[in-house]
Amino acid sequence: QIEIGTLAPLVDSFHAPAASLEEEEDELPLGPLPTLHTSGGSGVPLGYRSCNCPPQVPDRPTCLLCTCLGGSVYCDDLKLESVPPLPRDTTHFYARYNKISKINKSDFMHLNKLKRIDVTHNKISRIDEDAFVGLADLEELVLRENLVSQLPALPATMTLIDASHNKLGSNGIHKEAFKDMNGLLYLYLTDNNIGYIPLPLPESLCSLHLQNNNIQMMHEDTFCNLKDMNYIRRGLEDIRLDGNPINLSKTPQAYICLPRVPIGGLV
Ligand SMILES: *[C@@H]1O[C@H](CO)[C@@H](O)[C@H](O)[C@H]1NC(C)=O
Ligand SMILES: *[C@@H]1O[C@H](CO)[C@@H](O)[C@H](O)[C@H]1NC(C)=O
Repeated sequence: QIEIGTLAPLVDSFHAPAASLEEEEDELPLGPLPTLHTSGGSGVPLGYRSCNCPPQVPDRPTCLLCTCLGGSVYCDDLKLESVPPLPRDTTHFYARYNKISKINKSDFMHLNKLKRIDVTHNKISRIDEDAFVGLADLEELVLRENLVSQLPALPATMTLIDASHNKLGSNGIHKEAFKDMNGLLYLYLTDNNIGYIPLPLPESLCSLHLQNNNIQMMHEDTFCNLKDMNYIRRGLEDIRLDGNPINLSKTPQAYICLPRVPIGGLV
């Protein structure tokens, strides 16, 4: 008696949602159901496109090697020596902890949906000067822990540039490289043996990391505007200059427009 009593509601609750799901399916006015049935029923692996889609030649091999999820392509820790051919609709590309030695102009050509490239910890020593300029949607570039000696031209759409732990030195950054990046928020150039603060810095910038470089000089108008004492650079909250041979106490007027004094040698 007890068993029957407990079984009855179980059966009910098993059938009830299934029935209502079918009803919902029937009521869907349009949508992806036909494709779902095809890929589910015929044993074609998910991820393969239906015959209606234009063929995307590089798609399959790279997505067998790497993990492709939506627009994101994850190729971390695969011993890659070069950037693999990427699907046209790639938005985020990750190839951290590989052995890539060079970035060619052709690597990201035509990938105009790319928003983020992260090649942290490779062996990149050279990047073709025009490897990134055509990428109209590129916002974030992470080149940390490589051997880059020349930062290439970047589109004005950048919001984050992280080239920390490279070999930029004093000649590795173009003159006024960041000037036109009106949405740049984060600029990280830690550990590069850079000898100066790369000016001008866009008004949008909120975080500037330059620790462990070779910066010896700061001008009173590096961040502020001495001609306009009312000028406030509200956004720039986080300036790191520790680990540089600079005495920040020598330029007390240089910080009056900032929300916070830079971190570094105030002696
Ligand atoms: C692209 O870069 C790789 C190294 O990552 C190099 O072996 C190859 O020759 C380059 N190709 C072109 C077309 O420059
Ligand atoms: C740093 O500069 C201040 C102001 O000129 C000076 O008093 C101080 O001795 C300097 N410190 C060092 C370590 O040079």
